[in-house]
Amino acid sequence: MYIFKAAVIGAGAMGAEIAQVISYSGLPVLLKDVDQGMLDKGMARIRKIYQGRVDKGKMSSGDMDGKLSLVTPTLSYDEFGDVDIAIEAVPEKMAVKRAVLGQLAEALPEPAIIASNTSALSISEMGVASGRPGKMIGMHFFNPAHVMKLVEVIPGLDTTQETVDDVVTFTESLRKLPIVVQECPGFLVNRLLMPYLNEAVLALEEGEASANDIDQQLQAWGMPMGPFFLMDMLGLDVCADVGQHLQAEYGERMRGAALFPMLVAAGRLGEKSGAGFYGYGNETDEPVKEMIAELQSTGAVRRSERPFDPDRLIMPLINEAALCLQEHIASPADIDLAMVAGIGMTYGGERLGPLAVADLLGLDTVAARLAALQQAYGERFRPARLLRTKVRAGHIGKQTGRGFHEYSN
Ligand code: 3HC
Repeated sequence: MYIFKAAVIGAGAMGAEIAQVISYSGLPVLLKDVDQGMLDKGMARIRKIYQGRVDKGKMSSGDMDGKLSLVTPTLSYDEFGDVDIAIEAVPEKMAVKRAVLGQLAEALPEPAIIASNTSALSISEMGVASGRPGKMIGMHFFNPAHVMKLVEVIPGLDTTQETVDDVVTFTESLRKLPIVVQECPGFLVNRLLMPYLNEAVLALEEGEASANDIDQQLQAWGMPMGPFFLMDMLGLDVCADVGQHLQAEYGERMRGAALFPMLVAAGRLGEKSGAGFYGYGNETDEPVKEMIAELQSTGAVRRSERPFDPDRLIMPLINEAALCLQEHIASPADIDLAMVAGIGMTYGGERLGPLAVADLLGLDTVAARLAALQQAYGERFRPARLLRTKVRAGHIGKQTGRGFHEYSN
């Protein structure tokens, strides 16, 4: 199916950036919200992205006006009668998504595809709410959506192959990299990333190091941004919502840090609210330090006497990648590519994903480090069965020619 016209529902940061990406590819796109103020902010965000390209000399202001004219902000579904694909990017609450999917089912023509930019929620469940499960699919962009190359494409249980193929082709036409992943809570990238971010918060509240120290160590390791800077960019409300969903689905091993709800309740939602783990403008991070002191003094969190080691974040990320492989969520190559294109992961100056990093370190080393972390911090670090099996089989990684990937040494 050729896509002539698209729509994005929700003019927040992600919705606006997705509409920008679509307009940049030359397609007309409706940007729908229920709030005129949100629409105005969304349009301003899109204009700012284009203006940035003009300022860098990558685009003429005439071209910018042409691309901007492809985006039509709207408060109604009146012009949805000829839309071929609608992407919802409304808040991460299933009740809100359900309401929007019901409205879309009425407004869209029968063959139209409904995509969700959900970070973690079930596409199969949304398929039921949409009334057209064969046409419902996940299309998960990464923040900042106008920069990050990856789009996870997630079929639900009833999504047709034709819908998957159409969305893969559409994603490529946006000059993005589609990777098809099987449905599981958090899909692929957030399933690996969110526990990594949560572990950073646990280390912070246990007093192992400051946010700034942890950020610097993870950047030195090869991440483009430290975890706290990244969470402040993503929004702590978004991280808390996704984290709660992962905890509900995976249980104790993904239990969220106590600091999250305290920060959200205090209105520290990250960069967008002027304060998160860090303070911006006139704000400081003093209130965060006070919250941590309170958590420690009431015994809500234990104080750790260990020095912070980036392994505490990296090893579980590798382990979760092994669990995803074990569950056939994606191939080894796609798991690594997704982490490189979705969060900009590098190691030793090269663009490498978690499984390739494990192959370089040696799977026996990874399993031993996980076992040590398991002893120190608990069950959530238990090495994946696939990892242990590979070690037992002598598939240690690059040095033996076989690990998660194969090598012709
Ligand atoms: N917020 C928004 N945009 C930003 C930004 C920020 N904090 N920092 C940089 N950018 C934009 C810049 O405006 C620039 O845009 P332009 O090309 O239109 O001018 C572009 O990013 C590139 O910026 P720089 O040239 O300064 O490049 P950097 O080398 O600083 O890289 C980065 C910036 C690409 C954002 C890099 O730091 C990176 O890859 N960070 C990791 C981001 C990440 O992990 N994203 C995924 C998060 S998970 C997610 O989104 C899933 C969701 O479900 C929660």
